Formats: sequence, structure tokens, C-alpha cells
Amino acid sequence: MFKIAVAGTGYVGLVAGVCFAERGHKVVCVDIDKTKVDLMKSGVSPIYETGLEDLMKKNYKAGRLEYTNDYESAYKDADAVFIGVGTPENEDGSANLSYIATVARQIAETIEKDCLVVVKSTVPVGTNDKVEQFIHDFLINDVRVEVASNPEFLAQGSAVHDTLNAKRIIIGTQSSWAENLLQKIYEPFKLPVVSVNRKSAEMIKYASNDFLALKISYMNDIANLCELVGADVQDVAKGMSFDDRIGSKFLNAGIGYGGSCFPKDTKALEYLATQNGYDLKTVKAAINVNKDQKTLMYKKASNRLITFNGLKVAILGLTFKPGTDDLREAPSLENVPLLLNQGADIYAYDPIGAGNFAKVFPEGKSRKGSIKYVSNIEEAIEGANVCFIFTEWGEVKAIDAQVYKKLMRTPLVYDGRNLHSVEEMEQAGVEYYSVGRAPANKDGLKELRKLELQAARF
Ligand code: UDX
Repeated sequence: MFKIAVAGTGYVGLVAGVCFAERGHKVVCVDIDKTKVDLMKSGVSPIYETGLEDLMKKNYKAGRLEYTNDYESAYKDADAVFIGVGTPENEDGSANLSYIATVARQIAETIEKDCLVVVKSTVPVGTNDKVEQFIHDFLINDVRVEVASNPEFLAQGSAVHDTLNAKRIIIGTQSSWAENLLQKIYEPFKLPVVSVNRKSAEMIKYASNDFLALKISYMNDIANLCELVGADVQDVAKGMSFDDRIGSKFLNAGIGYGGSCFPKDTKALEYLATQNGYDLKTVKAAINVNKDQKTLMYKKASNRLITFNGLKVAILGLTFKPGTDDLREAPSLENVPLLLNQGADIYAYDPIGAGNFAKVFPEGKSRKGSIKYVSNIEEAIEGANVCFIFTEWGEVKAIDAQVYKKLMRTPLVYDGRNLHSVEEMEQAGVEYYSVGRAPANKDGLKELRKLELQAARF
């Protein structure tokens, strides 16, 4: 078993640290934020991840997991330091490496024995060479330090499960010393290991994420065409999925990908290509499709309604995907200001993301419209003139078509995640628009309303 330090306690760092402890290593998680460290010591996770807190408590109690903001004590005698700090996007699409540089320097100035520095954060190809050089430049003691690349493929919401059951562990090293050490660290996980050179490991991460982003954008592009020619994108995806060269996953059309990885990693790879004088046409196309897709539902609704001014607008789902409170690059962040500028009175529901969203758009009057956060779906849609679905939460999917019809002032629904059955919406008398599928009651509602009015008169 090894003594491991992990720098950064975000999704990547904390989950990795906890999982290393769970597999028997002695782990110390380092974060500069003292409040966060105290919180973690009390067993509370600073991020929402299924199963994470239980493992934090279990391993902390067993003495395999510690938290500290004293990086010196954590790094000085570690066999390996894993770096899991953020690499946010710069204005020009490049990755901001300042957090990595800070940690690299701290490591160089504190380690007292041979140490493998393992970069888990997603970094542009070639960065690990620079990190290694940087550490050597600042190294104080006469010890062996090498840098390895070990990209992370976890998805938020299932981070612990994804880490403990990873499809593959990518190890990018430049020496057999580093390769052997990292292989031994991962031995207790009993997972397939792919050992390559450092630059290939860095590229595997981008190539994988960007491929998935491309797959989603491709399906969104096809979905838009399906609508125009009268095909149904869900049927098309189903038909495609039986070919195992295509696979059945990541074929869901919707209002685009968000989150901390796909938007950032597509832009970073495009930036890398441009820097190298190469035009990365496919990834560029994925980025452009995604940009347009995010406001698709808003555009559709704008064409249908004269104005949003004074309308009660229900929003179901704010986070970029279900199972997380993360809002990074969520389509809601682009749609809400558009609606507020148009004077909409928004009633937003999200089971766990509303608190974070309220930090960006505080409750109350804002711009021309207003926003209110409600704790149940009924409150959001009751009396609403229009409803937008932005996240595929299970509880939103479970809403019966009749509920929209019964509770909304006008049953007009824009579903950005294709959660509901077009047939059921049609039968329930809900005017319904989704992505890459035929609408329900597009022209039929006027007739339906006429009949209802007539019935009410007699
Ligand atoms: C992703 C990768 O899955 C993970 O391997 C990588 O390490 C980090 O990025 P994550 O961003 O957590 O993980 O979420 P993921 O479940 O992949 O979804 C990303 C986005 O794509 C979401 O906005 C989701 O709604 C969207 N998506 C996903 C689709 O629009 N359609 C799909 O078929 C799948």
C-alpha cells in the first residue's frame, strides 16, 4: 500500500482520493480552503456525488483518509502526489494551468523523497512535459521526481461508481520506474490498464471526450433534420444502436451538452489544433452545433408566442444533467437571461440545483421579468402559460401528460430532453414540442379549445 497525497478536492481530486483509500492506500487530500477541509473532516462532502459521503466517513474512520490544508506535511513523504485541481477555460478557449503550476511548485519545494507526480486534471497535450520541467526547476532536495499522466473519465453523478469500475485506466509515463509504480497503485482496483507514453495519454482524454461531444452534436444535427423531413430521431437512434460499431450510448438528441468537460475540452482541442496550424473541422462543427442547440427551445417558443412579457414560464430542470447540482455550461444559464429580458415571470424547479442557480440569478425581480424557485413541479406549472424542460430529472420524466393539461393555464410544453411521449401529449391535449420529433397538437389546440369553450357554455 502506498502513501498518496491528492491536490484539489473537486470532482476529480476528492473522488480519486476517496477511492484510493477505499482500495487500501493511505491518502491525504489537500485543499487550500480551510473551511472545506473542516467540512470534509466532519464527514460532509463539498460536492454532491452518490455514495461519496459514505465512503468518506468509512475511510476517515478507518484512518486511511485525511484532509489538510497544510500541503507541506502532505507532500513531503508521499510516494505519489495526484494533481486533481481545475483547468478552467481561458477567454480564448485555452486551458488555464495556473492551479496546476501552483501545486507543481509546492511539490517541488516540499518533497523529501522520490515521488511520482500524477496529473489527473485534463491538460493540453505536452503540458506534463512542462510540469516535469517546472518541478525540476524548483526542486529543493536531491530526489527523483517524474510526472505521469493519468486522465480521469468519471461522469458527474456517478463519479464514485465510475472510478471504482472504470472501463480503463490510462497510464502515460516516460520511464519503467513511473509505469511500474502507477501500475502497482492501481493493482487493487483490478481494472484494465492501458500503458502509453505521456502525450498519448493526454491525447486519449481529449480524443475520448471530444468524440462523445461529437456524437451528441451529430445526433442533434440529425434531429433537426428529422424534424424538417418528418422522421423521429428517437426511432432513428434506436435503429442505429443495434450496430455495435455505433453503440447505443450518447445518441440522445436534446438541447446540447453542458458540464465541466465537453464544452471545455472541445474548445481546448480546437485551440491546440489552431496553435499547431491545423484546422480541426470535426470538433469545430460539434462546438457550433452545440452552441445553436442550447437555445433551440427558446427559439421555437419565440416563434410561437408574441411575447414572454407577463407570462408565467415554468422551467423544469436547471442543472446540465440530472444527479448533480452542477450548473457549468448548463443550457438553463443561457435561456433564463433571454426569458428575463423578455419580461417572463419564471417559476423554476430543480431538485438540487436551484440553490446554486439562485446565486447567479437571485430570486425576485430581475431585468424586465422575475424568477422564483419552487420546491415542487406542480407549483412551477400551475397556471403557467408555457413550460420548458431543460434537464432530464426522473421526477420530470414521471409527470403524466394529463398533469400539464390540468394545471397549466395553456398547456404548451417545450421539452429539450425528449422526456415525454408525443402520443401521450397528443392524447392529453397538450401542445408539445421536443427535439427531432413531430410536435403534438401544433394546430389542433385551437380546435380543442373551441370545443372546450362550447362544452363549458352548455
Ligand atoms: C463527461 C464524460 O462522460 C466523462 O467521461 C468525462 O470524464 C467528463 O465529461 P459529464 O460531463 O459528467 O461526463 O456528463 P455526461 O453524462 O457525459 O453528460 C455530458 C453532457 O452531455 C450533459 O449535458 C448531457 O445532457 C449531454 N448528453 C449526454 C446528451 O445531450 N446526450 C447524450 O446522449 C448524452
